[in-house]
Amino acid sequence: MGTLDGKVAIVSGSGRGIGREIALKLAGEGARVVVNDLDDDPAKETLAAIEAAGGQAVSCVGSVTGDGFAERFVQTAVDEFGGLDIIVNNAGYTWDSVIQKMTDEQWDAILDVHLKAPFRILRAAQPVISAAVKRAKDAGEPVPCRKVVNISSMAGTGGNAGQANYSSGKAGVLGLTKALSKEWGRYNVTVNAVAFGLIKTRLTEAPAGTGGTIDVQGKEIKVGVNPNLLAAMEQMVPLGRGGTPAEAAGAVYLFCIPESDYVSGQTLVCGGGFNI
Ligand SMILES: NC(=O)c1ccc[n+]([C@@H]2O[C@H](COP(=O)([O-])OP(=O)(O)OC[C@H]3O[C@@H](n4cnc5c(N)ncnc54)[C@H](O)[C@@H]3O)[C@@H](O)[C@H]2O)c1
Repeated sequence: MGTLDGKVAIVSGSGRGIGREIALKLAGEGARVVVNDLDDDPAKETLAAIEAAGGQAVSCVGSVTGDGFAERFVQTAVDEFGGLDIIVNNAGYTWDSVIQKMTDEQWDAILDVHLKAPFRILRAAQPVISAAVKRAKDAGEPVPCRKVVNISSMAGTGGNAGQANYSSGKAGVLGLTKALSKEWGRYNVTVNAVAFGLIKTRLTEAPAGTGGTIDVQGKEIKVGVNPNLLAAMEQMVPLGRGGTPAEAAGAVYLFCIPESDYVSGQTLVCGGGFNI
């Protein structure tokens, strides 16, 4: 018996890093998961890992910023697994510059992936959720608690130099979280955010200045924190180290379990005790 038996979850950006661990964790607790990633191979790999562990998943590959993607993502959950209980908006990347060097393209791309895409996914989910709530009420059944977890960052809670675009997107998603927690209380949906500090993934580990880049739809984008800076950052964390993707997934899981059914509109900082 898993804590999330019978639940259906969609997790964006779950081909790598934190999203992959969230998908594995939710599936390991019994949820059926729709895996998504921009890139096909990592999505397939997560799917295979879930199935190898005895879980159930399907993939819905594509960019969360694509037109029509949000509807397709939500519909995959309904078509394949018959409903939608947990939404994790996790997909994203960084594209840093000081403000005087930041282009409109850079600004728009990061706001699109971190703020507009979660907005579109939640908008697409509304008809599915409201219809399910109506069906339960009409049948005289209890309305189950559904869960939304939006992924933010300490760059969103506190701001970060060189990340005007990312900090704005990650702060914006906190506003979206709070607004939806009020709008969707009537559907018995809790809407919360997890703001990560330093988590060791390709976004932070790829050494900047030494060719550490990621490919985002054919565009090479420099990511990663300079190793010396990374070591200094780890020293500032009370727990003395960056977090693992599995630890990050654990914080998201807390908002997905029944024990958090009366917690909504909150931001949980997962940063090893570091606070800004
Ligand atoms: N790693 C950290 O220290 C840290 C800190 C704070 C917040 N975050 C946030 O956590 C989330 C996950 O980041 P991560 O560190 O695991 O990064 P990651 O690069 O390891 O994984 C992110 C995944 O999202 C996918 N993705 C990116 N853009 C996408 C798009 N448009 N559509 C679909 N998939 C897309 C990538 O292909 C990748 O597989 C992001 O929202 C990130 O901003 C990370």
